[in-house]
Amino acid sequence: MIKKGIILAGGTGTRMSPLTKAVNKQLLPLYDKPIIFYPLSILMLAGIKNILIIVNRGQLNQFRKILPEKNNLGIKIEYKEQFKPSGLPQAFTIGEKFIGNDNVALILGDNFFYGQSLTKILRKNINFKKGSKIFLHPVRSPQNYGVAQLVNNKVSKLIEKPKKTKSNLAVTGLYFFDNRVIEYSKKLKFSKRGELEIIDLLNIYRKKKILSAELIGRGGAWLDTGSVEDYYNASNFISTIENRQGFKIACIEEIALKNNWINKADVKKAIQFYGNCNYSKYLKSLIY
Ligand code: DAU
Repeated sequence: MIKKGIILAGGTGTRMSPLTKAVNKQLLPLYDKPIIFYPLSILMLAGIKNILIIVNRGQLNQFRKILPEKNNLGIKIEYKEQFKPSGLPQAFTIGEKFIGNDNVALILGDNFFYGQSLTKILRKNINFKKGSKIFLHPVRSPQNYGVAQLVNNKVSKLIEKPKKTKSNLAVTGLYFFDNRVIEYSKKLKFSKRGELEIIDLLNIYRKKKILSAELIGRGGAWLDTGSVEDYYNASNFISTIENRQGFKIACIEEIALKNNWINKADVKKAIQFYGNCNYSKYLKSLIY
């Protein structure tokens, strides 16, 4: 069972500069909410209440303004700083104390997931006990991601941003790990691009035959917010769905309410916190 989750929300944001020069990428709006609400909502949908958010050095107060430790979500939020963005597996050494003896989920702060089967997939896999679990999604440009090759539904190969590949299955930015992740992360060496690589970490699990993969098929969506172009496409996607259905994607108070982690009084506090805006109007519609 996974009860703890880490959101990695640092990084240089270079590909979106100058937008990210003064503001951390995860705090930019994705349609009507900060990007970080989306990965946070995924952890909450999975039922995870203990959350560590890792941010760049010096940016803690920016994040605290929107997601304070004392929040109206019925969850426990902690923060840690990453001094230099030296790779995703650093999440587990920075988060060593937070993880303790437990298993842990990692989600990248800029990843967007959506789809009817998603909560089901999350809830099914959250009971996982041993090894590592990755979530794959077909894409047209696998060379931009970590890529998995499958043989008989088992991961036979994992490569980070291959120039050429026969597989179209990207490794998405959601990972489940058992507690050995701390020990294995400490063994990693820096890659040619000067980072500790998540693919190297996953390959340790693969070689030990304790890595498994779950497919988020074409009925689900995993969108990239890597480049400015992708970012606006993702924003448009959210706007289209929300305006058509009248439901919000990644309304974190709505998820907390449905999970029975908070009550109507907490939602009222959240409305006060956000002030007079469309998001608050939506929150009001949930409780009146
Ligand atoms: O999005 C999925 C992809 O994420 C995977 O398919 C790749 O295997 C994985 O390496 C990663 O690739 P990216 O090149 O997209 O990672 P990027 O450096 O853009 O960082 C992803 C997020 O993690 C971003 O929100 C910034 C944050 N980050 C990144 C690094 C390297 C940190 O907070 N600290 C870091 O040290």
